[in-house]
Amino acid sequence: MHILFHIIFILLAFISHEHKANAAFVPPYSSVVVPVNKHIDAAKPLYSVQIMTAYVNSQYTHSNFLVDLDAPLIWHECILQWNTFEGSCPTDMLCTYPASCEEYQCTDVRTMYSYQNPSCPPVTNDSTIPDWGYCTCPVNVLNPITGSCGQAQLNYDEFTVNTSDGRNVLTGLYGAYPNAACAPSSSFQSFPVNVTGVMALSTSPYALPAYLNNPLKRTMALCLPSKLSTPGVLLYGTGPYNLLPNSNIDVRSLLSFTPLIKHLDSFGYFINASSIVIKTRSIDIPMNTTTKLSTTEPYTTLRSDIYNGVVRRFFKVTQRIPPATPVAPFGLCYNTTINGTQVGIKVPDIDFVLQDGKKWSISTANSIKQVTKDVACLAFVDSGPTSEPGIVIGAFQFEDNFLVFDLENSTFGFSSSLLRKQTSCSNFNFTLINSP
Ligand SMILES: *[C@@H]1O[C@H](CO)[C@@H](O)[C@H](O)[C@H]1NC(C)=O
Ligand SMILES: *[C@@H]1O[C@H](CO)[C@@H](O)[C@H](O)[C@H]1NC(C)=O
Ligand SMILES: *[C@@H]1O[C@H](CO)[C@@H](O)[C@H](O)[C@H]1NC(C)=O
Ligand SMILES: *[C@@H]1O[C@H](CO)[C@@H](O)[C@H](O)[C@H]1NC(C)=O
Ligand SMILES: *[C@@H]1O[C@H](CO)[C@@H](O)[C@H](O)[C@H]1NC(C)=O
Ligand SMILES: *[C@@H]1O[C@H](CO)[C@@H](O)[C@H](O)[C@H]1NC(C)=O
Ligand SMILES: *[C@@H]1O[C@H](CO)[C@@H](O)[C@H](O)[C@H]1NC(C)=O
Ligand SMILES: *[C@@H]1O[C@H](CO)[C@@H](O)[C@H](O)[C@H]1NC(C)=O
Ligand SMILES: *[C@@H]1O[C@H](CO)[C@@H](O)[C@H](O)[C@H]1NC(C)=O
Repeated sequence: MHILFHIIFILLAFISHEHKANAAFVPPYSSVVVPVNKHIDAAKPLYSVQIMTAYVNSQYTHSNFLVDLDAPLIWHECILQWNTFEGSCPTDMLCTYPASCEEYQCTDVRTMYSYQNPSCPPVTNDSTIPDWGYCTCPVNVLNPITGSCGQAQLNYDEFTVNTSDGRNVLTGLYGAYPNAACAPSSSFQSFPVNVTGVMALSTSPYALPAYLNNPLKRTMALCLPSKLSTPGVLLYGTGPYNLLPNSNIDVRSLLSFTPLIKHLDSFGYFINASSIVIKTRSIDIPMNTTTKLSTTEPYTTLRSDIYNGVVRRFFKVTQRIPPATPVAPFGLCYNTTINGTQVGIKVPDIDFVLQDGKKWSISTANSIKQVTKDVACLAFVDSGPTSEPGIVIGAFQFEDNFLVFDLENSTFGFSSSLLRKQTSCSNFNFTLINSP
């Protein structure tokens, strides 16, 4: 069955190539679609994408991978196995094919696309597969939760995702064949329950976008949910992008765009922020301050000079809200129990002014985090006087904001809060419909 599916995918690849040659092939889908879930059972809030990783007993195995905008390489729980035959892979385990240490990908990943840190153990060429006769290719990877270095074995992987017209899920499937890496289940102990991998969504040639090819356009839309109960969405490919309840409105019409900035030594995404405006008063961001986008940093972190300016101003414009003793890691908190009743607080927007004067507005839902029943805090964190990057925009600020990474034109699109547009990231219609 496994082999049969390979053949079908190869056939599909041939068909689309032939059509491309005629320059008239219009695929029935505009993008691939993946649900995004939020997790709060690890050391920090995190988000995962769900993809299909194997076809066993006539059904797909679904696996959850952490969303990581930064990682250079995809890695997950699996076992390397050569000449996989029916039943040779332990049940409930996923087996993939090894890449050998002699293949160019091995040297490539080891020298440029693996985690380079003095804390990492030296990599060796020891073979770990009996009867294979070749050395495998261990590479170093970063655990984005603990910050520690781990080791994974480079492999040939096989991912399947659903296709979409931007509005629903279509019946057609899309196959991607990355060189990813396999790690033992012990590597995922610090991860949320049922999350057993890291999905690199960076600009690295070994990240997922590099394996989602023609006819898909090189654009990634990411919409992180704020709720645990209903998934958000990741769409890769050109629009339209439609969300309920008005699935006739293309979310692209709600976006502002700013250039993505290249940054040496990183495959992540960076933008150019020039100031932060709170109720008409501007807090300048020193020239050349780096602003990074991160889905593994739970809250926006600011270098102390910027943080202090923001907190001073924010404190001033929220003086009517009773304060509370700060709860780590936050520095400014509010008492949300007034006269014995829990109240929702409403605060002024925090606007990031970007290159060309574009404004990313952070409204209450993305600036105030309810920490306990009666304490809510400004969800920004002081990252110290010399932190580099000076600004990291974190995942809490992304929730229910529609984000587009246009890798072809190197621009970043953002909607600000969808809640103000009467929709949210949990409003993608995942109903399956037949491909036209
Ligand atoms: C793909 O779509 C099918 C049919 O709706 C669904 O059962 C499956 O869970 C989807 N897979 C993923 C990874 O979303
Ligand atoms: C592993 O083997 C490859 C190919 O023989 C070689 O180029 C590389 O230097 C070896 N690496 C280590 C760490 O021994
Ligand atoms: C983890 O996955 C198992 C099997 O798919 C499922 O039964 C269980 O509910 C999941 N747990 C969580 C916390 O999602
Ligand atoms: C900003 O970077 C540019 C180019 O690297 C440099 O010429 C300039 O002096 C820097 N400005 C500041 C204020 O550091
Ligand atoms: C919040 O204020 C109420 C009085 O209105 C007080 O009883 C309560 O202890 C305060 N809670 C915190 C966490 O400061
Ligand atoms: C709290 O209740 C008292 C008495 O009912 C009232 O005078 C006061 O205005 C209330 N305070 C707030 C902040 O609602
Ligand atoms: C960031 O924007 C400022 C002013 O808008 C501009 O001078 C600077 O060159 C930009 N930096 C980069 C790296 O594009
Ligand atoms: C890049 O920009 C061009 C011109 O504005 C546009 O036609 C194209 O669709 C854009 N690419 C993507 C992936 O959106
Ligand atoms: C979701 O899409 C299906 C198929 O187009 C449609 O029948 C259904 O009404 C949609 N759901 C909502 C809530 O609009």
